[in-house]
Amino acid sequence: MTIDWDNLGFDYIKTPFRYISTWKNGQWDEGELTEDNTLHIHEGSAALHYGQQCFEGLKAYRCKDGSINLFRVDENSKRMNRSARRLLMAEVPEDKFIRAVEEVVKANEAFVPPYGSGSTLYLRPLLIGVGEGIGVKPAPEYLFTVFCMPVGAYFKGGLTPTNFIFSDYDRAAPQGTGAIKVGGNYAASFLPGEEAKEKSFSDCIYLDPKTHTKIEEVGSANFFGITKDDRFITPLSPSILPSITKYSLLYLAEHNLGMEAVEEDVYIDSLDQFKEAGACGTAAVISPIGAIQTYDDFHVFYSETEVGPVTQKLYDELTGIQFGDIAAPDGWIRNI
Ligand code: PLP
Ligand code: COI
Repeated sequence: MTIDWDNLGFDYIKTPFRYISTWKNGQWDEGELTEDNTLHIHEGSAALHYGQQCFEGLKAYRCKDGSINLFRVDENSKRMNRSARRLLMAEVPEDKFIRAVEEVVKANEAFVPPYGSGSTLYLRPLLIGVGEGIGVKPAPEYLFTVFCMPVGAYFKGGLTPTNFIFSDYDRAAPQGTGAIKVGGNYAASFLPGEEAKEKSFSDCIYLDPKTHTKIEEVGSANFFGITKDDRFITPLSPSILPSITKYSLLYLAEHNLGMEAVEEDVYIDSLDQFKEAGACGTAAVISPIGAIQTYDDFHVFYSETEVGPVTQKLYDELTGIQFGDIAAPDGWIRNI
């Protein structure tokens, strides 16, 4: 298979190896790499009926010297275990999680895109409740798998600004599952996302489910804005996914760019305070937001065609660290 590294989208590509491990009778087995990309599971599996499953997304980055960087993989492990605890699933020990990710990257090394292509190897850890069952209760067994594929930009055009539209739907409830990474949140986002795309927007932006007056997040990324007085602001809410990219940007905005960086309410009638805005996440990286179609306005931020200077700087810092060109804060990078 020949891959056009410079022009990858975000699509499934079968790579040779994935890791799989089973939890049964109260313990995990050793786990192994396999070439089989299908799962054979019980028809009564709780993952299929009651959505007892969670997942993660992280990337491996090819550095200039040919080595490979993993970015904050321990944070993905911690978040997966928070999801597991909320859904009463078996947790995956952090060392097992990290070992699985590293084994999958090494086994599929030929699929880690070259430095400079802008593409990366996307890793998808997945934990599902399986085994015999039919009552509404946690599964007796769990499968943990990690598979991977090379990917490019999630939103078409990468650093080209993209437009979003406010949604009338809610993605998650205040005390529900919005803050964990479970499949049900994403199933609930298909219809709103589809309706946004039919109107030529990249995706929708969800508002706080209680009052619909504050920005929550995009269906697959967090929101941030740069105020006219150069503050980095990102929404604070119990129903959004705590994005590892978002927390990294909060740190970089403060420590590397000298900005004030805060999580706080972002009211939909205060969009004028922002000179730039963006969506951030592992898949999205940093996608500048050109404009948002609000309920009564088409609000343009910096530009619909050009990335703003602060967003560009944040992008350069973040990706510079991920690809090993800029020194990383302690513990952010595992070089393999
Ligand atoms: N919000 C949602 C709903 C997501 O699916 C993601 C992707 O993981 C993010 C935010 C960004 O999170 P992270 O930066 O940890 O990838
Ligand atoms: C990610 O950024 O890793 C995500 O999970 C977003 C989306 C692909 C679900």
